[in-house]
Amino acid sequence: MSTTGQVIKCRAAVAWEPGKPLVTEDVEVAAPQAHEVRIKIVATGVCHTDWEYMYGTGKGMKFRPFPLVLGHEAAGVVESVGPEVTKFSPGDKVIPLFLPQCGECERCLSPKTNHCRKNWANTQVGVLADGTSRISCKGQQVYQFLGIGSFSQFTVVPDISLAKIRDDAPLEKVCLLGCGVSTGYGAALKTGKVEKDSSCAVFGLGAVGLGAVMGCQVAGAKRIIGVDINPDKFAKAVELGATECVDPRDHSKPIQEVLAEMTDGGVDYALECVGSPAVMTAALESTRDAWGTCVIAGWTEREAMSVVVEKLLMGRTLKGTYFGGWKSVEDVPKLVDDYMNNKLKLDEFITHNLPLDQINVAFDLLKSGKSIRTVISL
Ligand SMILES: NC(=O)c1ccc[n+]([C@@H]2O[C@H](COP(=O)([O-])OP(=O)(O)OC[C@H]3O[C@@H](n4cnc5c(N)ncnc54)[C@H](O)[C@@H]3O)[C@@H](O)[C@H]2O)c1
Ligand SMILES: [Zn+2]
Ligand SMILES: [Zn+2]
Repeated sequence: MSTTGQVIKCRAAVAWEPGKPLVTEDVEVAAPQAHEVRIKIVATGVCHTDWEYMYGTGKGMKFRPFPLVLGHEAAGVVESVGPEVTKFSPGDKVIPLFLPQCGECERCLSPKTNHCRKNWANTQVGVLADGTSRISCKGQQVYQFLGIGSFSQFTVVPDISLAKIRDDAPLEKVCLLGCGVSTGYGAALKTGKVEKDSSCAVFGLGAVGLGAVMGCQVAGAKRIIGVDINPDKFAKAVELGATECVDPRDHSKPIQEVLAEMTDGGVDYALECVGSPAVMTAALESTRDAWGTCVIAGWTEREAMSVVVEKLLMGRTLKGTYFGGWKSVEDVPKLVDDYMNNKLKLDEFITHNLPLDQINVAFDLLKSGKSIRTVISL
């Protein structure tokens, strides 16, 4: 029986309040409105940003209301489309995007940036273009994290926040291209523009950092130094291209000094994939003067990193990256192609698979450093 135009009842993991475990509930997902697409989510990764928002520094921020369906690293199939949707049809395989690409705004028309701002203010507070979300539970509106909310069997997203991907792509793998792997890979290739034969340091070896390691390798970097305080992450980093790994806790000197000694003056590129202001400062200071580039991919909402101005005056560049600099709608299908052509790896990032009702276990695995990515099947 077709569900087009109907409210769909399904299961979703609802975050009722910050800091508390998620609760798997029966929810209702409304039909898509104009320029919206309803998707059956098939698989979703659990990203550090979901954790951070729930339990970290973003916890309880007033401008992101609860209850909330988290999740923003997913893949699924179009169930139905709202009026005026021209680029999607039921059955299309898709990846929802927390960064849209409207294709029309000043930023979309510029090759310099991927920061489309269409619907931005709304998606940041968990609602769609009309200021409401499409998910409700027990008669109450449930917000959609970053305008997606993929910890639900169905969700609705704007048609500019969706990438159509090839039919033969395995959704339980390519879901990771919705956030973490793409972010790190692009931090190295698009934002950092890592060069052949260069030296790189990647701080933090979770999915974002390992994506960055892979990007440095694809760019042809000569040295790729993985930095993490959890040595259990080193084997996978080496598998994905790290030439050596360092645990800052094994050294009495600050890590930036250790890296400067290892590279005779500092690395050409440092990629921060932790989300810690102190690590961001260390990453900047580990780059070589005259031309070193530091890219910040880690996310933290309230804290500031400290920058010694002289470090910049001596020729270093400090950059940030959001979704790896990729133009989301047009680049995500190309990243899927890279995976299908064995240029980009994804299987290595998936350490656990769990059903939706074990979502809290996935958070525990991430936070305790036991997982890289858990893929949740819905
Ligand atoms: N810029 C973006 O668009 C974007 C997208 C996705 C994620 N993020 C952010 O990227 C960061 C990483 O995400 P993830 O999902 O890979 O997280 P993760 O938790 O899987 O990995 C973080 C890694 O950092 C390591 N770490 C912690 N403290 C460290 C320290 N002091 N020195 C070195 N390593 C340390 C941890 O051991 C862990 O291996 C988070 O801040 C996340 O919010 C940003
Ligand atoms: Zn993410
Ligand atoms: Zn735009």
